[in-house]
Amino acid sequence: MAKGPVPLIAGNWKMNGLRKGAEAEIRKLARLALKPKKLHCELVICPPATLLLAMQGWLRTARADRRIALGGQDCHAAPSGAHTGDISAQMLKDAGASHVILGHSERRQDHGETDATVAAKVAAAHAAKLTAIVCVGETLAEREDGQAEAVVARQIAASLPEGSRAGNTVIAYEPVWAIGTGRTPAPVDVARMHDRIRAILSERFRDGELFRILYGGSVKPGNAPDLLRIANVDGALVGGASLVAADFWGIARVRA
Ligand code: PGA
Repeated sequence: MAKGPVPLIAGNWKMNGLRKGAEAEIRKLARLALKPKKLHCELVICPPATLLLAMQGWLRTARADRRIALGGQDCHAAPSGAHTGDISAQMLKDAGASHVILGHSERRQDHGETDATVAAKVAAAHAAKLTAIVCVGETLAEREDGQAEAVVARQIAASLPEGSRAGNTVIAYEPVWAIGTGRTPAPVDVARMHDRIRAILSERFRDGELFRILYGGSVKPGNAPDLLRIANVDGALVGGASLVAADFWGIARVRA
């Protein structure tokens, strides 16, 4: 394997998980992740915010908190204030998170988030010393129209604020049409997009070579080996398969 950034395997639980089932799953994952002497990848689970504190406790009692980090799924751009229902980056940090997913296509679609909104949130995450996992990706219509690379280039340019660097920012390329559908792009298309993203990052940032670029969209234990061996794929953002410890570990172990 070519030397590059330490791979990151992140689980996005989305709006799933209650304390009862979650505890059993996280304990299973802790056991699996503690097996290897040393992990060669970083693991992050991003549960709903309601579970962050409890999960931090479960990981600590399992002595797996050094192996499995926690993340939020969104944050507000402001540190505090009159924003009913929102959560700030500082609050996520306070609840045990070290990461936060920002600009996921479900937020861009369901909540009308623009690149500018995302950039403001990423800046807030950085200010709170959280690592931002910034999602980009084209819709099926955009891909069929030959616009995939242009869309992703625009999203990266406009969603990353000044101050972004490899140490506080991760890119997740998630083609919208691959999320939750069981469909994935051909490896050659993943390779082309990740190369393009690397070039964009290297052009703009001095440490562009070191940013992690994750692939996301229907990653499963079965397709993970093929996806994770592609150059410039530095890990995965996993939705559905992250809800089951054995499946998530089945993906992570490819790079563990
Ligand atoms: P999926 O979701 O793995 O269920 O396709 C990925 C994501 O939305 O991050």
